[in-house]
Amino acid sequence: MLKINICGIDFKNPVFLAAGIMGETGGALKRIANSGAGALCTKSVGIEKRIGHRNPTMIEVEGGFLNAMGLPNPGVKEYIKEIYEIKDYLKRNGVKLIGSIYGKNPQEFSKVAEIMEPYVDLIELNISCPHAGEGYGAQIGQDPNLSNRVVSSVRESVDIPIIAKLTPNVADIKEIAKAVVEGGADAITAINTLGPGMVIDIKTKKPILSNKFGGMSGKAIKPIAIRNIYDIYSVVDVPIIGVGGITTGEDAIEFMLAGASAIQVGTGIYYRGYDIFYKICGEIEEYLIENNLKLKDIIGRAHEF
Ligand SMILES: Cc1cc2nc3c(=O)[nH]c(=O)nc-3n(C[C@H](O)[C@H](O)[C@H](O)COP(=O)(O)O)c2cc1C
Repeated sequence: MLKINICGIDFKNPVFLAAGIMGETGGALKRIANSGAGALCTKSVGIEKRIGHRNPTMIEVEGGFLNAMGLPNPGVKEYIKEIYEIKDYLKRNGVKLIGSIYGKNPQEFSKVAEIMEPYVDLIELNISCPHAGEGYGAQIGQDPNLSNRVVSSVRESVDIPIIAKLTPNVADIKEIAKAVVEGGADAITAINTLGPGMVIDIKTKKPILSNKFGGMSGKAIKPIAIRNIYDIYSVVDVPIIGVGGITTGEDAIEFMLAGASAIQVGTGIYYRGYDIFYKICGEIEEYLIENNLKLKDIIGRAHEF
């Protein structure tokens, strides 16, 4: 009942793991695969190893978390050893793998994508992290021309579907969505974390995060994510993967009504545990049965009004 096809690839359900949460090791990814996710998105990896920001890198706030991990990762060549270990297991269990990558320019993105391609089903381009440093992440995704060039460079380098992951921290996400689709993106994921925001400890009088600023995730960002999905759906014709504050099947359905064909869950794992993937799938199914609907009937439905 929840089977979907996105970019020519069959998924057993539309509830995926978001990038950067539980995606550091093969073991952690396997655990989420066993928790009912239809696809797993890896941690974002780059060409070289990166240590990331000093602790504290994460702080709970009202309605979610601020994080500034700074994209810690072992570099793509080391990371593929993690996913190589679980590749057959995922195949046997019908769970698809999305390789999330970052770079500082189109050439670097292409290099990482080429190395990642044999090990994953789709590539997700992180042009949206708000705390990745000068020249990375959201600094690319806030510029339509640069976003377009990153996507078209990767398009020329790999044959598997490419997803562009967008930042909500722009004046008009529709412009960026159009630019990445023109560049050859087969799908769009939205949104990465919001902000960045800041928390100051009133005792020490210092910012709590070592990076001072961090991207906001969790329940509080859901209305912003919904509006972004709605806007993107209104201007492009590629599948959208919605992410940002999803913790229940009802949240997932709201994203689908706005235009998402699938959704990703990150911070929600903290609120409902690993089996949040099973729970959300069950809740979506219940809604569809109760309302005598199929998944395809609800995607983008809110645009009819
Ligand atoms: C601790 C943490 C690490 C993250 N790392 C990445 C990452 O490596 N790449 C990326 O594209 N997004 C990353 N994100 C963003 C999430 O994939 C997601 O877009 C965002 O958290 C909103 O979804 P959520 O509210 O369900 O967490 C990270 C988020 C968190 C909280």
